[in-house]
Amino acid sequence: MDSSFSKISQALLLLVVLCGITGCNAQLSTEFYSKSCPNLFPTVKSTVHSAITKEARMGASLLRLFFHDCFVNGCDGSLLLDGTSGEKNAAPNVNSVRGFDVIDDIKSAVENVCPGVVSCADIVAIAARDSVHIMGGPNWEVKLGRRDARSASQAAANSSIPPPTSNLKQLISSFKAVGLSSKDMVALSGAHTIGQARCISFRARVYNDSNIDPSLAKTRQRHCPRSRGSGTTIWRRSMSILRRISTTNTSRISSAKEGSSTRINSSSVGDPRILSSGLTAR
Ligand code: HEM
Repeated sequence: MDSSFSKISQALLLLVVLCGITGCNAQLSTEFYSKSCPNLFPTVKSTVHSAITKEARMGASLLRLFFHDCFVNGCDGSLLLDGTSGEKNAAPNVNSVRGFDVIDDIKSAVENVCPGVVSCADIVAIAARDSVHIMGGPNWEVKLGRRDARSASQAAANSSIPPPTSNLKQLISSFKAVGLSSKDMVALSGAHTIGQARCISFRARVYNDSNIDPSLAKTRQRHCPRSRGSGTTIWRRSMSILRRISTTNTSRISSAKEGSSTRINSSSVGDPRILSSGLTAR
């Protein structure tokens, strides 16, 4: 594990600050289900483990699902609610956020051991933590006791989750709106060490920007056609790996072959603004 990755791992510990977002409050406790559902943690972890063994990328997807849930009226599971006017169909989520089936599987497994006790919002929070840990990242204690939302807001999702076209000021402001600092924002962006992005999310970056490693841009262009079409709408064809999770050893996050300067800071959409701001140098 290289030192830059190690720093990113430490920074990922800041994920715990997602619990500082609206929806988590003083009543939350690591012991919340200790009597009512003593087997909660192993039950969640084993389902997350199976999912990641089946598809390594799923760990990244579950982590992002937590982020996108938390940024819209707090970590309340509202992203999970079906319906055309729900958050699932908001621009940042549709055809992009994944892992709903895994959350369903975890919920079923948890219901088997302690029916009607554990909220979906808490399951999402534990699944994100377990994903990071199973993939070789840090571990942390998750405070529990979130209540599930009964409604979702597509409008709030569209306005609260920062789009990849955000400039630095907008990114800082999106995080500030949920009580997170610019330092938190930089650290949490380290989550982009893992996972994948669709061509449409980074096409402009690899074709139009000059402040990107030319060889990285070229490599990514190979999987992302300049013109719109097959590269943008069909998930499998449009996917290009920005940061590949090791498929041979799911217990570690691979640093891929991109080198520390390209892996996080200059390859993804949104991140270049953070890099050029000097915030990452702190
Ligand atoms: C700073 C603002 C952020 C922006 C603008 C942003 C944007 C994006 C975009 C555009 C993608 C690719 C989506 C796609 O093509 O379908 C992505 C993927 C991802 N993001 Fe972010 N993101 C941000 C912050 C975060 C945070 C705070 C986390 C978690 C703590 C996170 C975790 C991830 C992960 C793990 C993936 C890969 C998901 C997968 O492979 O399924 N992102 N992000």
